[in-house]
Amino acid sequence: MRDAPLLIRRAAEMRAFWEAAGGKTAFVPTMGALHEGHLSLVRRARELAGKNGTLAVSVFVNRLQFGPGEDFGEYPRGLDSDLAKLRGLADVVFAPDEAEMYPEPQAFGISLPPVYGELEGKFRPGFFQGVAAAVCKLFGIIAADVAVFGAKDFQQARMIRAMARQFNFRTRIEVAPTAREPDGLAMSSRNAYLSAEERREAPQLHAELSRATAAILAGDDFAGACARGAAALRTRGWSVDYFEARNAADLSAPDADAPAVILAAARLGKTRLIDNVEIPAL
Ligand code: PAF
Repeated sequence: MRDAPLLIRRAAEMRAFWEAAGGKTAFVPTMGALHEGHLSLVRRARELAGKNGTLAVSVFVNRLQFGPGEDFGEYPRGLDSDLAKLRGLADVVFAPDEAEMYPEPQAFGISLPPVYGELEGKFRPGFFQGVAAAVCKLFGIIAADVAVFGAKDFQQARMIRAMARQFNFRTRIEVAPTAREPDGLAMSSRNAYLSAEERREAPQLHAELSRATAAILAGDDFAGACARGAAALRTRGWSVDYFEARNAADLSAPDADAPAVILAAARLGKTRLIDNVEIPAL
């Protein structure tokens, strides 16, 4: 393993490096602004690749997954600091610019099952299509044995896993647990947008998800427990996009006999946060 990761900005160079890479290979795609949550994914990927394997991290803020009026322009960026955080962890960082990643308009796309037009897909139309395009391109350049994604983006991870299965990608998709601050707030690059007051309030999203989970485990119905969670957040001043239980495997309607997940997205001021809690079969 290298001490400082090699920085590669060109797709052809990255592919050539990867084709010569030794041992087991692992990949963590990111949009940069790396925090402890990302680093926990990178550490997991390093475990999977082993000391003698090769680990790549990509850093690319993917315009295609941002809708009009979303935070593409403000999204935090800082390649130097990302590279410093990856010292002693990653072998190579692929950080293409937009012209390298999308040298021509991305006219081909992936058509997704209708469930990806619900929840996150309903509030961020085009988001999953944008993620799918970026991940397909990245996997075309960095065909690793395993790629690690975070459970915080639960719907994204399910979509990528299903896409990888249906398209027979060589890369196995591993989903690593959500890294949390000591007060329960899921780590996210967007937490940087929160004011001090909002930051104090932000852990309530996870607190309400946990309360709804406990209520369901104690016999409450999915819809009632979720409606109460959403109402509690609204009373505290949040604007709730969704707070819903789904089947954890395929995001269909939840069923007590199968593992479920409660998924939520809500805004505090201008900051939109997402989180989820998984529930075992009852
Ligand atoms: O989760 C992210 O950071 C992005 O959605 C991803 C997977 C890197 C695709 O741009």
